[in-house]
Amino acid sequence: MRDLLIIEGGVRLAGTVRASSAKNAVLPMMAASILTGEECVLRDVPRLRDVGVMGQILSSLGAEVRTEAVGDRSSATLTIVCRSLSSHVVPADLMGEVRSSIFLMGALLARNGRADLAYPGGCSIGHRPIDLHLQGLRDLGAKIEEHGSRIEAEARELHGSDIRLTLPSVGATENIMMAAVLATGTTLIRNAAREPEIVDLQNMLNLMGASISGAGGEAIRIEGVRRLHGVSYVPIPDRIEAGTLMVAAAITSGQVEVSNCVPDHLRTLIDKLRQAGCTIEEGDRRVFVEMDGRPRAVDCVTLPYPGFPTDLQPPLMSLAAIADGTSAFLETIYEQRFNQAEGLQRMGADISITGQRAFVHGVERLRGAAVRAHDLRAGAALVLAGLVADGVTTVSGIEHIDRGYDGLETKLASLGASVRRACA
Ligand code: UD1
Repeated sequence: MRDLLIIEGGVRLAGTVRASSAKNAVLPMMAASILTGEECVLRDVPRLRDVGVMGQILSSLGAEVRTEAVGDRSSATLTIVCRSLSSHVVPADLMGEVRSSIFLMGALLARNGRADLAYPGGCSIGHRPIDLHLQGLRDLGAKIEEHGSRIEAEARELHGSDIRLTLPSVGATENIMMAAVLATGTTLIRNAAREPEIVDLQNMLNLMGASISGAGGEAIRIEGVRRLHGVSYVPIPDRIEAGTLMVAAAITSGQVEVSNCVPDHLRTLIDKLRQAGCTIEEGDRRVFVEMDGRPRAVDCVTLPYPGFPTDLQPPLMSLAAIADGTSAFLETIYEQRFNQAEGLQRMGADISITGQRAFVHGVERLRGAAVRAHDLRAGAALVLAGLVADGVTTVSGIEHIDRGYDGLETKLASLGASVRRACA
């Protein structure tokens, strides 16, 4: 039995909604917590399927993982204590569930000198290789062998190295940081990813006793230390969730304040929404979005941070679907990231796709339809389209949405949307 979201479109959203902490910050931090035998506490952690699976993986490696709900907030305190590792083998079935488990390779090597993982493989948004992760770890001295779908890595000692990434991969940057933090000597990661989640990982590791500088810029410098200690940390707000809620306000001609977000992390989306006709006020860890009438068309090119985030491209495409004019989209990060287009077309959108380019000819109205989420952000985009469509939209495949949004329907309903979860 699978859940569905049932949405009746046409309500202008209004009110205040709080974004959760960032999934993409929490997952590498969970991996980082096995770098020490002391207690690591992550506060205000969203209740997401990916976080749950990562917790199961850590338990299978010998860590003690406790989750405690916090008041009536949709978040939890996550306590991870990994006094010693009882295994270095990440179970293949769990590895397949959450791609980010690849981060454990660097952390396991640093803590234990051994890691055995399954290859995370491709996914529905395109081929997602891990060559940069493997090359970076080899540069630090790891011996890595690939046996079919499994990867075995070993390192008697990791040593600092000068690593240049050919692409600013978020995951590779984080994996290498976690391996280098306990290595001997200095590591330099050049052409590093600059996403806010990398800065947040640096901040957490430094509180644990690491010596890392430069995150957020093009080069990250890591002076290896002998040991790390425990930490209590609140990850940064989820800019992708906040951005999704901002588009929800815009698409419904609403008036919504999103709290617990960092406007600077949302700069490119704020610019796009202003171009589309939104009024946006930026405050201290909050943004207020107001839209009156039909949005104007906006073009979009996805790029590594500080460029427009690929994870917000599907939500923005839903807005473009009802805009006045034609919006041109170019997706440069992933090969197949227009999974939302099929559902949007069913709802009456006029979208033509050639490779990594899409042209969205805005229509005045979308109509409710039965559509399927093929991946996390495409699923969110379909929910947004349902909020403005005439009639009822049912979105299936919402297990994808649950991977990365903590109670999306509850948050939208708190703003007045007619959206509920049902069992198919
Ligand atoms: C992270 C985010 C994901 C986001 C993505 C891009 C997490 C948990 N996930 O994913 O939400 O969509 O950044 O902003 O933080 N690549 C290679 N070789 C590698 C690694 C990556 O060619 O070894 C390529 C990928 O195929 C992709 C591009 O680099 O085309 C970016 O990938 P990357 O930044 O690594 O994304 P993730 O860390 O997997």
